[in-house]
Amino acid sequence: MKPSGLGSVDPGFAATVEGRLDSIEQRLLTASEADTRLVTEAAQHIISAGGKRFRPMLVVLCAHLADAEGAAVDADRLEKAALVVELTHVASLYHDDVMDDADLRRGAVAANRRWQNSVAILVGDYLFARASDTVAELGTDYVQIQARTFARLVQGQIAETVGPVPDADPIAHHLQVIADKTGSLIATSAVFGGMVAGFDEETLEVLRDFGEEIGLVFQLHDDIIDITSDVTGKTPGTDLREGIPTLPTLLARAMDRPEDERLFALVDSDLESEEDLAEAVRLLREHPAIEEARTEVRRRADAARARLQVLPAGPAREALEALCDHVINRDD
Ligand code: FPP
Ligand code: MG
Repeated sequence: MKPSGLGSVDPGFAATVEGRLDSIEQRLLTASEADTRLVTEAAQHIISAGGKRFRPMLVVLCAHLADAEGAAVDADRLEKAALVVELTHVASLYHDDVMDDADLRRGAVAANRRWQNSVAILVGDYLFARASDTVAELGTDYVQIQARTFARLVQGQIAETVGPVPDADPIAHHLQVIADKTGSLIATSAVFGGMVAGFDEETLEVLRDFGEEIGLVFQLHDDIIDITSDVTGKTPGTDLREGIPTLPTLLARAMDRPEDERLFALVDSDLESEEDLAEAVRLLREHPAIEEARTEVRRRADAARARLQVLPAGPAREALEALCDHVINRDD
């Protein structure tokens, strides 16, 4: 499913963006073709299962900010930039599903289950290679940003895996993890859009900061709906089962309420049994930490929206503003 968020913007502009995203969709399938049927099928598995295409959407909208200044955007380079960020994202999901031992991704059986861990890992590598091939066509400035983004993705994922050092603030550690594993690529999506449009360094800086903040919001909200939603296309409570701390559980722990003894006995167990997982999810859904987490996410979404005010006004900026609301109102 594509991120709607465009419902409230100028219909002509929305149609242009939708058309561009359709074209990017085609390129995603073509770029993930390989020499054998097995690799093609496995590499297209997550892409064909759908996805919000949040990163390509950001590339497209940030590039179209230039419409307000009468600048024409090179459609081929725009689509390539969007292709690079989405291929990188999808590549990371293959690896993530192996690390999470996931059953489901986007409502489909996860590649690590459908095939095996080693195939899923190598298919992730294959897609990252395909992203690298395309980013090389955009130029060395793009390649360097892509390489640095990849380094942050990996470091964020490692920091999440090993957890904070003793005495570190677990919430600060968590925010750094998600800034690296999610904020970085979303910031790069916004910057790539701006670069394709030819914006100056000062504007790219605004786009980077906006992208990083909305990326954080995106992941924080994702972690809330991992608990509260039954329609994410993933198993509810996957983060709990994997022992991955997220803002709701960190806030709940910090509240240190005696009535949460059962909840944390469950959260700290392996949660292998479906009943235990369902009970932990149920207890957390009723916990005040969920509302506290939502308040923090709303505050950050407002901060992201405020950053847009210095950018050229027009349908693209309106769509980016609408996206700030859409990101925190989605259930999937
Ligand atoms: C999903 O997070 C995963 C990420 C945002 C990044 C994962 C990064 C790597 C595995 C590093 C390797 C990268 C490449 C490019 C090969 P999540 O588990 O919180 O989200 P989920 O609920 O969708 O699984
Ligand atoms: Mg995961």
